[in-house]
Amino acid sequence: MSEQKRTMLVTSALPYANGSIHLGHLVEYIQTDIWVRFQKMRGHDCIYVCADDAHGTPIMLRAQQEGIEPEALIVRVAEEHQADFADFHIDFDNYHSTHSDENRQLSELIYRRNRDGGHIKTRTITQAYDPQKEMFLPDRFIKGECPRCGAADQYGDSCEVCGATYSPTELKNAVSAVSGAKPVEKESLHYFFELADFEAMLRTWTTAGHLQEEVSNKLNEWFADGLRAWDISRDDPYFGFEIPDAPGKFFYVWLDAPIGYLASFKQYCERTGTDFDAYWKTDSQAEVYHFIGKDIIYFHALFWPAMLTGADFRTPTAIFAHGFLTVNGQKMSKSRGTFIKARSYLDHLNPEYLRYYFAAKLGDGVDDLDLNLDDFTQRVNSDLVGKVVNIASRCAGFIMKKSNGRLSEHVSEAGLYQTFVNAGDEIAGFYEAREYGRASREIMALADVANQYIDEQKPWVLARQKGAEQQVQEICSVGLNLFRVLMTYLKPVLPAMAEQAGIFLNLKSMNWDDIAEPLRDHHIESFKPLMTRVEPASVEAMVVASKEHLEESGKAASAGGPLAEDPVAATIAFDDFIKLDLRVVRIAKAEAVPEADKLLKLTLDLGGETRNVFAGIKSAYAPEDLEGKLTVMVANLAPRKMRFGVSEGMVLAAGPGGKDLYILEPHAGAKPGMRVK
Ligand code: 2FM
Ligand code: ZN
Repeated sequence: MSEQKRTMLVTSALPYANGSIHLGHLVEYIQTDIWVRFQKMRGHDCIYVCADDAHGTPIMLRAQQEGIEPEALIVRVAEEHQADFADFHIDFDNYHSTHSDENRQLSELIYRRNRDGGHIKTRTITQAYDPQKEMFLPDRFIKGECPRCGAADQYGDSCEVCGATYSPTELKNAVSAVSGAKPVEKESLHYFFELADFEAMLRTWTTAGHLQEEVSNKLNEWFADGLRAWDISRDDPYFGFEIPDAPGKFFYVWLDAPIGYLASFKQYCERTGTDFDAYWKTDSQAEVYHFIGKDIIYFHALFWPAMLTGADFRTPTAIFAHGFLTVNGQKMSKSRGTFIKARSYLDHLNPEYLRYYFAAKLGDGVDDLDLNLDDFTQRVNSDLVGKVVNIASRCAGFIMKKSNGRLSEHVSEAGLYQTFVNAGDEIAGFYEAREYGRASREIMALADVANQYIDEQKPWVLARQKGAEQQVQEICSVGLNLFRVLMTYLKPVLPAMAEQAGIFLNLKSMNWDDIAEPLRDHHIESFKPLMTRVEPASVEAMVVASKEHLEESGKAASAGGPLAEDPVAATIAFDDFIKLDLRVVRIAKAEAVPEADKLLKLTLDLGGETRNVFAGIKSAYAPEDLEGKLTVMVANLAPRKMRFGVSEGMVLAAGPGGKDLYILEPHAGAKPGMRVK
């Protein structure tokens, strides 16, 4: 490596401490982890830090809902997050929490410096207030009817049915999602960060190569809209840090969240004796990189550099934004079983399959990334098992059996080996530029060349000929040397498999420069399969289990709200139970709903009365099979306006989902309209 040694600090966005890590999150952690591992392999000094984002109203309410203190909730979730990350081989150098002493001190320092510099102003504003719960309500905690389409039960900022966005005051029949009370308007003094004070600096900074081009362009639109002052305070009760000299006022979670990067790094510095200021003083030579999702660009590309500048800290070297994850071409969906938690994935599949698949599809832009589950199976099996592992498994046996586990002294294909080594510069360039898809295509093209070489040399034919032992040893030694180069290139993506390959090849280290020379007259260990094929049944089981999670939590088909993710397994009182009006009904008519991939429109006969209900059972029943069947419905569910019409109740079906959903079979004694006891 001719490059100079670089000093780098890298972060991924901090996950909220009230929900589980899911595959959408993992796009970012895997992307960052690959980059950091690559930098380390190149010999750079690269530190990767992260933390849980532990403050804010949703976390406070979630803890209340569970009947525990927020501190207990965030400790439990932090443990869960860190176990998930470790099992996906996300190798942080430090993992902390925004609810920490380091973060309190740094948040206060950054706030005070900005305040003393004149960048904080106060102003009285009017907001929705829950008179029963005695708290101000963020938009997501107000529910009502959509002002555009009338759908019931929509949040205060946007409608999940028609996609409209609005302010909570426009919602009809608004209620607090926390208590059910009708919100009132109430005044309160708020603290604002004067973003416009930094406009000149931000206009320069955002066009000086710190951002991707498409992000920079987006920012131009925001500049054109004008930089508004940012409300950084929240009123008691709030789980966060109290603002200095402002009793009863707390920092808004987004104020102290990015400071959490510094806090985690500070903890790392204290633990390892690293000089914090050397990284964060204004003239620092260290490089600082933030990997984030495209939804939080405003915070990172405007507020964050402005706050840092106002507090006399350096600004980041670059911010790398990525797109969202879709699964099978659609938004992740709880009802389809494609909202897959990290742990559900790990229960069924090898984490390195996903690391490789994401890498194969990642580029340097903000485009969304699709996890197509069939393509995932096919790509991992064909590339990793069929190409890469195959090279080693085709050569290892001959070296073990015929050459006592020793590679040849002479490397017969010096030119071929050199081609593989020479490709390293281009592959390194792709990793550096976050073009992992291009890196993996280059690596797989080399794997094809290696397999072709073995195909042509046919060591299995030579092995049957007398006197060809040395030739077989040389061919297989070339094969294994090429395999070593490929595994070195893949190591940022597949650290566990690379480690196993390193044990098999008896390597002391696997850094980028180690491959300059091939292994000669070198002892290897016996070969064990380095990766097994992705089993389609395991993928299917993961999807089914993801659906079951949902059904267990009683949230089928709901998109989930601020309190809905991972609800506490709830029991209901007998008084609630007897409110259910369950009736036997006859399915008079069943029709497909062309715009909805899961729904059937059912006309139900309750013995005199008919109802229209939309039911998510299309995957299990063809409409014609349902007509004439009896089933059970919840007859007193409030009508719900859906995109396709009003649903007047709910049909009960049993089973894990997909094809396995069952309604009641007809029974001679059961008549439409009968109550179910
Ligand atoms: O959007 C989120 O999930 C936030 N918890 C990310 C915070 S990143 C940083 F600013 F802390
Ligand atoms: Zn609507």
